[in-house]
Amino acid sequence: MRADWYPSSSSVSSSWFPRKNSHYQLLKFVVCIFLMGLVFRLFSSRSIENSVVVQTPFLEETPVVDDEVKVKPVPDHNVDFRKIKPPKGKCDLFTGDWIPNPSGPIYTNESCHVIEPHQNCMKNGRPDSGYLFWRWKPRDCEIPRFDAKKFLELMKNKQWALIGDSIQRNHVQSLLCILSKVEDAVMVYHDEKYSSKRWLFPSYNFTLSVIWSPFLVEAATFEDINGVSTADIQLHLDKLDHIWVDQYQNIDYMIFSGGKWFFKTAIYYENNKVVGCHYCPGQNLTELGFVYAYRKVLELVYNHIVKSNHKGMIFFRMITPDHFENGEWFSGGTCTRSVPFKEGESNLNDIDVVLRDIELEEFKKAEAVASKNKVNLKLFDTTHLSLLRPDGHPGPYRHFHPFAKDNNAKVQNDCLHWCLPGPIDSWSDLVMEMVLNG
Ligand SMILES: *[C@@H]1O[C@H](CO)[C@@H](O)[C@H](O)[C@H]1NC(C)=O
Ligand SMILES: *[C@@H]1O[C@H](CO)[C@@H](O)[C@H](O)[C@H]1NC(C)=O
Ligand SMILES: *[C@@H]1O[C@H](CO)[C@@H](O)[C@H](O)[C@H]1NC(C)=O
Repeated sequence: MRADWYPSSSSVSSSWFPRKNSHYQLLKFVVCIFLMGLVFRLFSSRSIENSVVVQTPFLEETPVVDDEVKVKPVPDHNVDFRKIKPPKGKCDLFTGDWIPNPSGPIYTNESCHVIEPHQNCMKNGRPDSGYLFWRWKPRDCEIPRFDAKKFLELMKNKQWALIGDSIQRNHVQSLLCILSKVEDAVMVYHDEKYSSKRWLFPSYNFTLSVIWSPFLVEAATFEDINGVSTADIQLHLDKLDHIWVDQYQNIDYMIFSGGKWFFKTAIYYENNKVVGCHYCPGQNLTELGFVYAYRKVLELVYNHIVKSNHKGMIFFRMITPDHFENGEWFSGGTCTRSVPFKEGESNLNDIDVVLRDIELEEFKKAEAVASKNKVNLKLFDTTHLSLLRPDGHPGPYRHFHPFAKDNNAKVQNDCLHWCLPGPIDSWSDLVMEMVLNG
């Protein structure tokens, strides 16, 4: 798997700090990690709604009513891409560029009714639309655009699940929107907080789930009635989250992901005993750090996967970058670009590099065992292509017409999740390609 598009070392092992450094840089980095922890309090979960209670009414926590997916037919824009033949030889799907796509997105905010308000950039009044007219082009091949009809035919009686955090939810909504061009999905399950959901495409008996498991292991989070954290997260680094394990053998296709939730302050448990923490000053606990935790968790997850005798297909989707500029989320950071970067124009944050390196190392270890055990495990490496899309985030348009009353209003920006329609729609093109052609 290629990982040579950013300049840092990817062979970090025990020492995870990726650069030669002065104390100042180290301090900066540590502060950065701490602040990133705060970022994800804001941006990574249902707590995306929760944590901004100061600014937004608690109402926003009310889930989107998306069980009635009524779809108006809209003209089919993507005929051209359906004629493209799949590549003959193997090609690195994840190295390439975004190229203009005059035909635009498959769906709109009018045709798709499951778009979460925070990602409904069109409805929220985002003025520019250029970001809608790009498609991902791998350097050495063409990939056909997602064919919803073909996909559903192929997936008759099958079950899919995307497992992880709010970026997975973002991806599921994108996929639902794309598929809803062919058939209305019916929501057949949701948990109490609407964090995990399942939809059925009745004519195809195809089910698509999003399973909320941001740590992939057992985690206790503590929130008051407004969703504000009242105590540190308790993570059991040696116990997989039963929410996905219980369903595991029934799911034919799974996309796992991990990532940024591990930046949060947390107390780590092994064997039901506290073994340390990440960022818990004053508690007299060993700072094990999120690197330790993330590695341990991925090892545990992969250990389960490679020994599972699973007959379907299992993807691991890699870390997704954010694009805050001129500040962080809490200090007025924004993402105002309106066109993609070209290859090489942007680098991943140091902290994302650290997570990515762990993901690569653990995947490589697991892959060897998986193939021996005939488990179909794939790396779904969306990091690079996502890094090139600073223009695809809601920014201030995570709220409905944020500047309606005041042109200079100070608005919290979201430069992590993706507008729908938007760049994340391409992820499904790639998944389809991997399903069809390995
Ligand atoms: C879709 O977005 C347009 C602006 O692009 C807006 O006028 C319209 O109300 C939106 N429709 C829905 C159903 O969200
Ligand atoms: C629908 O698919 C599930 C597997 O996902 C299968 O167990 C069930 O029998 C199927 N139902 C019908 C009516 O074919
Ligand atoms: C911190 O923990 C160590 C080892 O568990 C213990 O010996 C020490 O007394 C503790 N210090 C405080 C201030 O509690």
